[in-house]
Amino acid sequence: MVDAKVNKKPLNWAVLGFQYQRTDYRFRAVHENGVWGEGELITDENIPIHEGAPSIHYAQQCFEGMKAQTSADGRVLLFRPDLNSERMDLAAKRLLMPQVPENLFLEAVEETVRANYAWIPPFGSGASLYIRPMLIGVGENLGLNPAQKFEFRVFVCPVGPYYKEAGLAVISLAVSEMDRAAPNGTGSFKVGANYAGGLLATRAAQVLGANEALYLDSMEGRYIDEAGSANIIVAMKDGSFASPKSDAILPSITRRSIMILAKEELGLKAEDRPIDLRAEFSQFQEMAACGTAAVLSPVGKVWFDAGWHNVYQDGDSIGPIMQELYDLLVGIQNGELEDRFSWLHEVSR
Ligand code: PLP
Ligand code: COI
Repeated sequence: MVDAKVNKKPLNWAVLGFQYQRTDYRFRAVHENGVWGEGELITDENIPIHEGAPSIHYAQQCFEGMKAQTSADGRVLLFRPDLNSERMDLAAKRLLMPQVPENLFLEAVEETVRANYAWIPPFGSGASLYIRPMLIGVGENLGLNPAQKFEFRVFVCPVGPYYKEAGLAVISLAVSEMDRAAPNGTGSFKVGANYAGGLLATRAAQVLGANEALYLDSMEGRYIDEAGSANIIVAMKDGSFASPKSDAILPSITRRSIMILAKEELGLKAEDRPIDLRAEFSQFQEMAACGTAAVLSPVGKVWFDAGWHNVYQDGDSIGPIMQELYDLLVGIQNGELEDRFSWLHEVSR
């Protein structure tokens, strides 16, 4: 339990979007001469950084995204944080950065959440506390070599829905002419470099009126990879449930959880497999984007081959399968439903 006597900040939780909001404390630990320092909570949101730091020249950095929710009985709940720690390890190895040990990762997240208790949106507000752990190369450098010094930082912000409309918004995606990730590249790691390249693709999608870019595989431009900030799930007309199998996408924790729910709770034949967008689109019953920020956002229509294609009915409504999966996922995350798969991690006092 956390200290529930602290007064909450006077925010209008219901109207929060997905924006940075300065909160009181952040955690910082430094890795130097091969060892991690103890780490501490600090108040300064700025990071003094050397002008030669490899994170700002060569994108030697990675990050994570997770959320804390308040349950009806006042517990503060994290969703599968061990998987965020594991994924940050993979990114650190890929970019020659020191691993953040799981106990340091989890303690830093818990400490930061606890210290910012007043900023955690209350149960039923529709908002949650977004947690951003990050690992960056901060020491001085010039040649293309790994940094000598690293900072692990965790900050938190209360957030509302990622896509503008409140609640369970139906979104649209536009297939990008730009690739997100190359085979054997860094697409499956949560590294900033993947996202810088996606800014222009997102802009192009938004110019078409879509919420986000949808990337196809960069070898053939045929199979669905993922959206700019979320994985894709599809309920097929034959009753099966599919998610793209690709080495170039982020292994979404939300998607992995939804696939289990689709199989175990809805009894669907759920599998990760290549999904050929053009060849299979007419067989799509329902489609959604999923992720920590996106939660589960139904996709109403997709732009490809110079036109919009509706996925579900009028392109503006939510199908029953995605609605049920959303209710299950969110119900488990906020403690309303039984945590059958032991996914929750309560933040202790
Ligand atoms: N894909 C991308 C590119 C993302 O940035 C995210 C967000 O973290 C996801 C997928 C969803 O992953 P997760 O469910 O672990 O948040
Ligand atoms: C998340 O869902 O946690 C992400 O990191 C996506 C980000 C682009 C906001």
